Amino acid sequence: TTVFISADMASVALGADALADAFADVGCTVVRTGSRGLFAIEPLVEVQEGGARIGYGPVGPEDVAAILSGDHPHRLGPVDALPFFARQQRFTFARCGINDPLDLAAYVASGGWRGLEAARAMAPQAVVDAIKASGLRGRGGAGFPTGIKWQTVLDAGPAEKFVVCNADEGDSGTFADRMLMEGDPYCLIEGMAIAAHAVGADHGYVYIRSEYPFAIRAMQGAIERSAALLAPFTLEVRVGAGAYVCGEETALLDSIEGKRGQVRAKPPLPAIEGLFGQPTVINNVLSLAAVPFILSEGAEAYAAVGLGRSRGTMPVQLAGNIRNGGLFEIGFGISLGELVETVGGGTASGRPVRAVQVGGPLGAYLPPSMFDLPFDYESFAAAGALIGHAGITVFDDTVDMAQMARFAMEFCAVESCGKCTPCRIGSTRGVETIDRIIAGGRGGDRVEALPQMRNAKARQKSVEQEIALLRDLCDTMKYGSLCALGGFTPYPVLSALNHFPEDFGDASAMPA
Ligand code: NAI
Ligand code: SF4
Repeated sequence: TTVFISADMASVALGADALADAFADVGCTVVRTGSRGLFAIEPLVEVQEGGARIGYGPVGPEDVAAILSGDHPHRLGPVDALPFFARQQRFTFARCGINDPLDLAAYVASGGWRGLEAARAMAPQAVVDAIKASGLRGRGGAGFPTGIKWQTVLDAGPAEKFVVCNADEGDSGTFADRMLMEGDPYCLIEGMAIAAHAVGADHGYVYIRSEYPFAIRAMQGAIERSAALLAPFTLEVRVGAGAYVCGEETALLDSIEGKRGQVRAKPPLPAIEGLFGQPTVINNVLSLAAVPFILSEGAEAYAAVGLGRSRGTMPVQLAGNIRNGGLFEIGFGISLGELVETVGGGTASGRPVRAVQVGGPLGAYLPPSMFDLPFDYESFAAAGALIGHAGITVFDDTVDMAQMARFAMEFCAVESCGKCTPCRIGSTRGVETIDRIIAGGRGGDRVEALPQMRNAKARQKSVEQEIALLRDLCDTMKYGSLCALGGFTPYPVLSALNHFPEDFGDASAMPA
């Protein structure tokens, strides 16, 4: 009997290795795959039954005999048919959870390298035009059109050029880059090779955070096995050292160059003067991994799904206090509420959802009253939010939003690279200001000593003054910071303040 069990880091954390050992012990052929992406049913085993793969999960080593007899209460049927998967549009994650990630023959059998072959039969400009026609935008968070970025590098003329993949996935609640690298590394490699052909680059780097040892291993193994196919393009992995700011593209380039990762002022854009001062394509894992589909299936097929200027699919990551945590790839346009309530199944605690943070630690907190918001770049921007890397972190009604705002400022203070003042000093002053708001305003003992009526009024006035100061500080950080770390920290802080004023002791904004 052949069984399929994920070797993804999250699956292993849930006990997948012990499950795989137990099946091997009874003589089964165990194929280790990437994760399907629904953690509530992991550890998951899929048993080959005729032409179908029948899932059982969550299960453990003690369930092996019952599973092999076909009679187990957690028998799920074909995994693809479960509502969580049936609804998805897996353009990028099509092979994830299905193939052995390093099996080259399986990659070829499932359509691998077709995009690269098509690209190499085309002139570089035609490849760039296809990416433009697909409408693909940077999946790292900024949503800049990928085709235009590639055009800039192509137009830089004959020079030594590089393709760099940003796999420094630092946003809390995001894991799509990791899952893709562990579950389908050849897909990312193929996307990078296509980019190299399109712009005329000979060498590429995949910059992976050190917290992702499985992804590092998978990428290194896949690069080694596919080297002959990629030639003359060459590729290597570089490992980060744990700084969030190295996910910012210019700090990342400094880090690859062996310097301390610090943000560079733009311009010059990396597309013109990037790695070692040379024209460089730098894209997120998900942007590059979307490219093989576009070249093999056609730009129209990719652009056919989506909403407005947000074309194609987005691998959404559902995390935090949510029942169906995992990866859900779908065309842009689905509402936030559908993602959280229908797909995600609401909170894991069973309590009402109070807030969701979309886009990582720099993303806005949104209340359920905004759940009609369609998932796309423009709708989110208009609502004072961002989709970022499409991580959605869910909180129930026990969350204290003033503490979440404090966390955002503290995160910025800890991770700031120190290059510019609004971020380096502003974030520390921001933590202090929020602390004073939480403590009921400036004045402390002096306010306490006042008679009760005056005490309440003085405290309220003081809180209002501190909140005004916090807004002013956020304004300075937003417009005065050099990069998104300082510039976007106001999103979580101000959204918490605007949507949940009652948590900040702001009586003027509280219901009577
Ligand atoms: P940006 O808007 O400055 O630039 C976006 C990209 O377009 C960059 O690669 C830039 O070099 C390129 N670009 C801009 N104009 C160009 C032109 N004319 N020609 C060629 N290329 C051009 O945004 P930035 O600072 O790179 O990213 C900010 C985003 O990063 C935020 O939206 C945030 O959501 C996201 N982010 C993602 C994280 C993650 O873990 N994935 C972590 C932290 C932030
Ligand atoms: Fe560095 Fe913060 Fe300025 Fe970005 S905003 S350059 S992280 S100090």
